[in-house]
Amino acid sequence: MSSSSLAAVVLCAGKGTRMKSEKVKVLHSLLGRPLCWYPVSRAFELGADPVVAVVGYQADAVTGALREAFADKPIAFVVQAEQNGTAHAVRCAEGPLARHDGLVLILYGDVPNLRAETLSALAAAYRAGKGPLAMLTSRLADPTGYGRVVREGGRVKRVVEHKDASADERRLEEVNAGIYLVDSAFLWRSLSEVKAANAQGEFYLTDIIERAAAQGGVATVLAEADETAGVNDRAELAARAAVMRMRINTEYMRLGVTLQHPETTFIDQGVEIGPNTVIGPMVSIHAGCEIGANVKLGQGSILSRSTVGDGTEVKPYSVLEEAVVGPGCAIGPFARLRPGTTLDEGVHLGNFVETKKTRIRKGSKANHLSYLGDADIGAGVNVGAGTITCNYDGVDKHPTVLGDGVFIGSDTQLVAPVTVGAGAYVAAGTTVTADVPPDALVLSRVRQTIKEGWAAKKRAKQRR
Ligand code: UD1
Ligand code: CA
Repeated sequence: MSSSSLAAVVLCAGKGTRMKSEKVKVLHSLLGRPLCWYPVSRAFELGADPVVAVVGYQADAVTGALREAFADKPIAFVVQAEQNGTAHAVRCAEGPLARHDGLVLILYGDVPNLRAETLSALAAAYRAGKGPLAMLTSRLADPTGYGRVVREGGRVKRVVEHKDASADERRLEEVNAGIYLVDSAFLWRSLSEVKAANAQGEFYLTDIIERAAAQGGVATVLAEADETAGVNDRAELAARAAVMRMRINTEYMRLGVTLQHPETTFIDQGVEIGPNTVIGPMVSIHAGCEIGANVKLGQGSILSRSTVGDGTEVKPYSVLEEAVVGPGCAIGPFARLRPGTTLDEGVHLGNFVETKKTRIRKGSKANHLSYLGDADIGAGVNVGAGTITCNYDGVDKHPTVLGDGVFIGSDTQLVAPVTVGAGAYVAAGTTVTADVPPDALVLSRVRQTIKEGWAAKKRAKQRR
């Protein structure tokens, strides 16, 4: 199947009433991508050109999401204003495909787990057959609700919808997955003849199966139910996500990433992880993360849209959001890196350290209990326990700049805007309110007073 001969239609028009949601079903998220992203991706993987998405309910939102995700791909959109059935939906795509004379792959926007290999098998079955259509089927112990594949002498005769099926037909366990590869000339010709004479008063795409059976036969590929199952409600969404999650996790393990407890590891689509990285239990890595090689991600850490350099260790229960962490860093446990955090090589951030819009250069450390916001921190800086950048005056945010080699004593407040010059020392407990020149010492504490024997005298007085 050469890529120029394949187009795809992805049906995304339905509301998905059983989701009980304000949001159209196909935009519900599955491991960091909307449901409809999956079939569209599969179609492009097979070389489909174009892919036509049939949108209807919340058409603008679905179109927007797919346009953004597939900006550089040949994707087209048609609106099916009323959902009059699957045949009607596919027919809406005839316009953009008028000049396409090869094969059309038909996919559902709410069936996320199809594998490219299975679709390749469908293409092979099509080529091996003599008829104008090949379809995926599955065997289900409980086929309730699905269209049943009716065979005669082993050959597909037609598909009958559950609501139209006889008691005998309802006992058939082989169901129509709703995924077809079909010759375009046959498709448009037969769709124009489909009638809505059935229990639901809809135009059934399945009506074209009987025609194909009479014109050379229908090729079938039996696919795992896990792959062909769609999403109708949120319980099914979770079930589909569980399958996809284990598939992603297994793929990373095969690529040389250790998952200490894959059952509780959540890795979204669109993540990169280097080899020899070790991921602890209950770690979540959301879409847009790039994790290097030889990284350790400790138990319970959550990473979103962040980059982690080679050899860095993120200790348990740290949270990273839009952060860029260089190689050889040590983060956490219990660190919180908020958007705009950039750490160069070998930076250490310990427990209960929070950073936001802050750059920290090579080898600097803030090991305990600090807030560093809107700061530019040089190399080789030591930030003592309990140091706070007072970056907010109630109206505006202000920057703090610490030069290379600065030493900040514990419990320092840096009242921004403020600059501490390279090599300067800030004594513990200081409130820095004005710029400090390089190599200076700054201290703002009250001088210590000692009253010898004071406590003993007080106790003696209390006893009397
Ligand atoms: C369909 C098949 C059934 C098959 C089942 C597999 C038909 C008539 N029946 O039934 O044989 O076993 O899928 O899941 O095709 N859609 C539109 N516009 C419409 C109608 C549907 O875009 O007018 C979209 C839906 O949003 C959904 C997909 O097509 O993504 C399937 O529609 P649905 O109504 O769920 O079909 P089923 O009744 O499940
Ligand atoms: Ca369905």
